[in-house]
Amino acid sequence: MKTDIELMGLLELARETAVSAGNLIRQKWSQPKEIKSKGFRDVVTDTDIAAQKLITDAIQIKFPAHGFLTEEDDSDLPTDGPVIWVIDPVDGTTNFSREIPTFCISIAAVSAENEVLAGAIYDPMRDELFSAALGQGATLNGQPVHVSSIDELGDAVIALDWSRSADLRQSVLDVLDQFAHQVNTVRAFGSAALALAWVGVGRVDGYVNFQLKPWDLAAASVIISEAGGKLSDLAGQQWGYSPNASGCVAGNGRFHLTFNN
Ligand code: IPD
Ligand code: CA
Ligand code: CA
Repeated sequence: MKTDIELMGLLELARETAVSAGNLIRQKWSQPKEIKSKGFRDVVTDTDIAAQKLITDAIQIKFPAHGFLTEEDDSDLPTDGPVIWVIDPVDGTTNFSREIPTFCISIAAVSAENEVLAGAIYDPMRDELFSAALGQGATLNGQPVHVSSIDELGDAVIALDWSRSADLRQSVLDVLDQFAHQVNTVRAFGSAALALAWVGVGRVDGYVNFQLKPWDLAAASVIISEAGGKLSDLAGQQWGYSPNASGCVAGNGRFHLTFNN
Protein backbone atom coordinates (compact mmCIF):
# COMPACT_ATOMS: atom_id res chain seq x y z
CA MET A 1 0.00 0.00 0.00
CA LYS A 2 1.50 3.33 -1.06
CA THR A 3 0.95 6.55 0.85
CA ASP A 4 -0.69 9.47 -0.94
CA ILE A 5 2.69 11.22 -0.99
CA GLU A 6 4.31 8.22 -2.70
CA LEU A 7 1.45 8.03 -5.22
CA MET A 8 1.78 11.72 -6.00
CA GLY A 9 5.55 11.28 -6.48
CA LEU A 10 4.93 8.53 -9.04
CA LEU A 11 2.24 10.59 -10.75
CA GLU A 12 4.50 13.64 -10.93
CA LEU A 13 7.30 11.62 -12.53
CA ALA A 14 4.91 10.02 -15.02
CA ARG A 15 3.63 13.47 -15.97
CA GLU A 16 7.08 15.09 -16.21
CA THR A 17 8.60 12.32 -18.32
CA ALA A 18 5.56 12.16 -20.63
CA VAL A 19 5.79 15.91 -21.29
CA SER A 20 9.61 15.81 -21.79
CA ALA A 21 9.21 12.96 -24.30
CA GLY A 22 6.38 14.90 -25.97
CA ASN A 23 8.63 17.94 -26.40
CA LEU A 24 11.22 15.75 -28.14
CA ILE A 25 8.58 14.12 -30.35
CA ARG A 26 7.16 17.52 -31.33
CA GLN A 27 10.65 18.67 -32.44
CA LYS A 28 11.00 15.54 -34.58
CA TRP A 29 7.47 15.76 -35.96
CA SER A 30 8.13 17.19 -39.41
CA GLN A 31 11.75 16.05 -39.77
CA PRO A 32 12.79 13.09 -41.94
CA LYS A 33 12.21 9.87 -40.02
CA GLU A 34 13.89 6.48 -39.94
CA ILE A 35 10.95 4.11 -40.24
CA LYS A 36 11.49 0.36 -39.84
CA SER A 37 9.08 -2.54 -40.01
CA LYS A 38 8.96 -4.62 -36.83
CA GLY A 39 6.11 -6.92 -37.81
CA PHE A 40 3.00 -7.25 -39.93
CA ARG A 41 1.44 -3.76 -40.32
CA ASP A 42 3.71 -2.55 -37.49
CA VAL A 43 6.41 0.12 -37.71
CA VAL A 44 8.85 1.81 -35.35
CA THR A 45 10.73 5.08 -35.86
CA ASP A 46 14.00 6.42 -34.47
CA THR A 47 11.88 8.85 -32.46
CA ASP A 48 10.05 6.01 -30.66
CA ILE A 49 13.43 4.71 -29.51
CA ALA A 50 14.81 8.14 -28.54
CA ALA A 51 11.65 9.06 -26.61
CA GLN A 52 11.66 5.78 -24.71
CA LYS A 53 15.33 6.26 -23.73
CA LEU A 54 14.64 9.79 -22.50
CA ILE A 55 11.79 8.47 -20.31
CA THR A 56 13.61 5.44 -18.88
CA ASP A 57 16.81 7.45 -18.17
CA ALA A 58 14.81 10.00 -16.17
CA ILE A 59 13.00 7.30 -14.19
CA GLN A 60 16.23 5.44 -13.44
CA ILE A 61 17.84 8.59 -12.06
CA LYS A 62 14.96 9.04 -9.61
CA PHE A 63 14.14 5.38 -8.85
CA PRO A 64 17.15 3.15 -9.63
CA ALA A 65 15.49 0.06 -8.09
CA HIS A 66 12.33 0.21 -10.21
CA GLY A 67 11.63 -2.16 -13.13
CA PHE A 68 10.30 -1.61 -16.66
CA LEU A 69 7.97 -3.05 -19.25
CA THR A 70 8.49 -1.03 -22.42
CA GLU A 71 7.16 -1.41 -25.93
CA GLU A 72 10.57 -1.03 -27.57
CA ASP A 73 13.13 -3.67 -26.54
CA ASP A 74 15.91 -2.49 -24.26
CA SER A 75 17.88 -5.32 -22.69
CA ASP A 76 19.69 -2.87 -20.37
CA LEU A 77 16.51 -2.19 -18.38
CA PRO A 78 15.68 -4.20 -15.25
CA THR A 79 12.31 -5.96 -15.45
CA ASP A 80 11.74 -6.41 -11.69
CA GLY A 81 11.32 -3.96 -8.87
CA PRO A 82 8.88 -2.69 -6.25
CA VAL A 83 7.27 -0.60 -9.02
CA ILE A 84 7.19 -1.44 -12.74
CA TRP A 85 7.03 1.42 -15.24
CA VAL A 86 4.90 0.44 -18.23
CA ILE A 87 5.75 2.66 -21.18
CA ASP A 88 4.60 3.26 -24.73
CA PRO A 89 6.84 6.09 -25.97
CA VAL A 90 4.67 6.74 -29.06
CA ASP A 91 1.20 5.25 -29.15
CA GLY A 92 0.03 5.78 -32.71
CA THR A 93 3.34 5.32 -34.50
CA THR A 94 1.65 4.81 -37.88
CA ASN A 95 -0.01 8.21 -37.48
CA PHE A 96 3.27 9.82 -36.35
CA SER A 97 5.21 8.29 -39.26
CA ARG A 98 2.72 9.84 -41.71
CA GLU A 99 2.42 13.21 -39.98
CA ILE A 100 -1.15 12.50 -38.89
CA PRO A 101 -1.22 14.54 -35.66
CA THR A 102 -2.93 11.97 -33.41
CA PHE A 103 -0.61 10.04 -31.10
CA CYS A 104 0.52 10.20 -27.49
CA ILE A 105 2.99 9.05 -24.87
CA SER A 106 1.63 6.62 -22.27
CA ILE A 107 3.41 6.01 -18.94
CA ALA A 108 2.12 4.08 -15.92
CA ALA A 109 3.54 3.01 -12.57
CA VAL A 110 2.31 -0.45 -11.54
CA SER A 111 2.80 -2.09 -8.12
CA ALA A 112 4.26 -5.55 -7.54
CA GLU A 113 0.62 -6.61 -6.88
CA ASN A 114 -0.37 -5.56 -10.41
CA GLU A 115 -2.22 -2.47 -9.29
CA VAL A 116 -1.90 0.55 -11.58
CA LEU A 117 -0.87 3.29 -9.15
CA ALA A 118 -0.51 6.28 -11.46
CA GLY A 119 -0.61 7.05 -15.16
CA ALA A 120 -0.03 9.88 -17.60
CA ILE A 121 -0.99 10.17 -21.26
CA TYR A 122 0.39 13.21 -23.10
CA ASP A 123 -0.76 14.47 -26.50
CA PRO A 124 2.14 16.66 -27.65
CA MET A 125 0.34 18.13 -30.68
CA ARG A 126 -2.46 19.57 -28.53
CA ASP A 127 -0.40 20.03 -25.34
CA GLU A 128 -2.91 17.95 -23.40
CA LEU A 129 -1.81 15.97 -20.36
CA PHE A 130 -4.29 13.41 -19.05
CA SER A 131 -3.34 11.82 -15.74
CA ALA A 132 -4.56 10.10 -12.60
CA ALA A 133 -3.37 8.33 -9.48
CA LEU A 134 -5.30 5.78 -7.45
CA GLY A 135 -7.93 7.49 -5.31
CA GLN A 136 -6.79 10.98 -6.39
CA GLY A 137 -9.15 11.65 -9.34
CA ALA A 138 -8.31 12.20 -12.99
CA THR A 139 -7.23 15.47 -14.55
CA LEU A 140 -6.62 17.11 -17.92
CA ASN A 141 -3.91 19.79 -17.69
CA GLY A 142 -4.53 19.87 -13.93
CA GLN A 143 -8.31 20.29 -14.09
CA PRO A 144 -10.60 17.50 -12.79
CA VAL A 145 -12.30 15.46 -15.51
CA HIS A 146 -15.15 12.97 -15.72
CA VAL A 147 -16.52 10.57 -18.30
CA SER A 148 -19.54 11.66 -20.38
CA SER A 149 -23.12 11.47 -19.15
CA ILE A 150 -24.51 9.96 -22.37
CA ASP A 151 -26.81 7.14 -21.31
CA GLU A 152 -28.46 6.05 -24.56
CA LEU A 153 -26.52 3.85 -26.96
CA GLY A 154 -28.20 5.72 -29.81
CA ASP A 155 -26.46 8.95 -28.71
CA ALA A 156 -23.07 7.36 -28.11
CA VAL A 157 -19.89 8.18 -30.06
CA ILE A 158 -17.85 4.98 -30.02
CA ALA A 159 -14.19 4.75 -31.02
CA LEU A 160 -12.39 1.59 -32.07
CA ASP A 161 -9.17 0.68 -33.80
CA TRP A 162 -8.34 -1.82 -36.51
CA SER A 163 -6.42 -4.90 -35.39
CA ARG A 164 -3.39 -5.87 -37.47
CA SER A 165 -3.95 -9.59 -38.02
CA ALA A 166 -6.41 -10.75 -40.68
CA ASP A 167 -8.61 -12.74 -38.26
CA LEU A 168 -8.87 -10.00 -35.64
CA ARG A 169 -9.51 -7.42 -38.35
CA GLN A 170 -12.41 -9.58 -39.49
CA SER A 171 -13.65 -9.67 -35.87
CA VAL A 172 -13.63 -5.87 -35.81
CA LEU A 173 -15.72 -5.84 -38.98
CA ASP A 174 -18.14 -8.42 -37.53
CA VAL A 175 -18.58 -6.45 -34.31
CA LEU A 176 -18.97 -3.19 -36.20
CA ASP A 177 -21.71 -4.87 -38.19
CA GLN A 178 -23.47 -5.60 -34.88
CA PHE A 179 -23.37 -2.15 -33.31
CA ALA A 180 -22.66 0.47 -36.02
CA HIS A 181 -26.37 0.94 -36.74
CA GLN A 182 -27.24 1.30 -33.05
CA VAL A 183 -24.88 4.14 -32.08
CA ASN A 184 -24.64 7.81 -33.02
CA THR A 185 -21.35 7.33 -34.86
CA VAL A 186 -18.03 5.47 -34.88
CA ARG A 187 -14.44 6.82 -35.01
CA ALA A 188 -11.03 5.18 -35.48
CA PHE A 189 -8.24 7.51 -34.31
CA GLY A 190 -5.26 5.13 -34.51
CA SER A 191 -3.99 5.69 -30.96
CA ALA A 192 -5.63 3.41 -28.41
CA ALA A 193 -4.23 5.20 -25.35
CA LEU A 194 -5.37 8.60 -26.62
CA ALA A 195 -8.86 7.33 -27.48
CA LEU A 196 -9.09 5.83 -23.98
CA ALA A 197 -7.97 9.13 -22.44
CA TRP A 198 -10.72 10.79 -24.47
CA VAL A 199 -13.23 8.37 -22.91
CA GLY A 200 -11.94 9.63 -19.55
CA VAL A 201 -12.74 13.25 -20.44
CA GLY A 202 -16.05 12.45 -22.13
CA ARG A 203 -15.11 13.33 -25.73
CA VAL A 204 -16.08 9.82 -26.76
CA ASP A 205 -18.42 7.57 -24.83
CA GLY A 206 -16.83 4.18 -25.48
CA TYR A 207 -13.87 2.41 -27.06
CA VAL A 208 -13.30 -1.15 -28.34
CA ASN A 209 -10.07 -2.89 -29.32
CA PHE A 210 -9.50 -6.62 -29.86
CA GLN A 211 -5.82 -6.79 -29.08
CA LEU A 212 -3.77 -4.39 -27.06
CA LYS A 213 -0.57 -4.62 -25.07
CA PRO A 214 -0.27 -3.62 -21.40
CA TRP A 215 1.53 -0.38 -22.38
CA ASP A 216 -1.53 0.68 -24.44
CA LEU A 217 -3.87 0.20 -21.49
CA ALA A 218 -2.10 0.67 -18.16
CA ALA A 219 -2.11 4.48 -17.87
CA ALA A 220 -5.57 4.72 -19.45
CA SER A 221 -7.00 2.21 -16.96
CA VAL A 222 -6.40 4.44 -13.94
CA ILE A 223 -7.48 7.57 -15.83
CA ILE A 224 -10.78 5.96 -16.84
CA SER A 225 -11.54 4.49 -13.42
CA GLU A 226 -10.65 7.74 -11.62
CA ALA A 227 -12.84 9.63 -14.14
CA GLY A 228 -15.82 7.42 -13.21
CA GLY A 229 -15.74 5.14 -16.27
CA LYS A 230 -15.38 1.41 -16.79
CA LEU A 231 -12.68 -0.62 -18.49
CA SER A 232 -13.48 -4.27 -19.19
CA ASP A 233 -11.93 -7.16 -21.02
CA LEU A 234 -13.74 -8.60 -24.06
CA ALA A 235 -15.73 -10.95 -21.79
CA GLY A 236 -17.12 -7.97 -19.88
CA GLN A 237 -15.05 -8.57 -16.72
CA GLN A 238 -13.30 -5.62 -15.12
CA TRP A 239 -9.91 -5.17 -16.81
CA GLY A 240 -7.00 -5.92 -14.50
CA TYR A 241 -3.36 -5.22 -15.25
CA SER A 242 -1.31 -8.16 -16.51
CA PRO A 243 1.86 -8.18 -18.60
CA ASN A 244 -0.02 -10.03 -21.37
CA ALA A 245 -1.93 -8.74 -24.38
CA SER A 246 -5.68 -8.31 -24.04
CA GLY A 247 -8.69 -6.75 -25.71
CA CYS A 248 -10.78 -4.08 -24.07
CA VAL A 249 -14.14 -2.39 -23.97
CA ALA A 250 -14.20 1.00 -22.27
CA GLY A 251 -17.12 3.25 -21.57
CA ASN A 252 -18.78 5.74 -19.27
CA GLY A 253 -20.66 2.91 -17.54
CA ARG A 254 -24.10 4.36 -18.36
CA PHE A 255 -25.04 2.20 -21.34
CA HIS A 256 -24.23 -1.31 -22.50
CA LEU A 257 -22.29 -1.88 -25.66
CA THR A 258 -22.95 -5.57 -26.30
CA PHE A 259 -21.68 -7.73 -29.11
CA ASN A 260 -20.63 -11.32 -29.77
CA ASN A 261 -17.06 -11.91 -30.83
C1 IPD B 1 -1.13 0.81 -31.69
C2 IPD B 1 -2.22 1.86 -31.57
C3 IPD B 1 -3.44 1.42 -32.35
C4 IPD B 1 -3.95 0.05 -31.87
C5 IPD B 1 -2.83 -0.98 -31.98
C6 IPD B 1 -1.63 -0.50 -31.18
P1 IPD B 1 1.44 1.60 -31.54
O1 IPD B 1 -0.01 1.19 -30.91
O2 IPD B 1 -2.60 2.05 -30.23
O3 IPD B 1 -4.47 2.34 -32.16
O4 IPD B 1 -5.03 -0.37 -32.65
O5 IPD B 1 -3.30 -2.21 -31.48
O6 IPD B 1 -0.60 -1.46 -31.27
O7 IPD B 1 1.99 0.40 -32.22
O8 IPD B 1 1.21 2.73 -32.45
O9 IPD B 1 2.20 1.99 -30.29
CA1 CA C 1 0.71 1.34 -28.58
CA1 CA D 1 4.22 2.47 -29.58
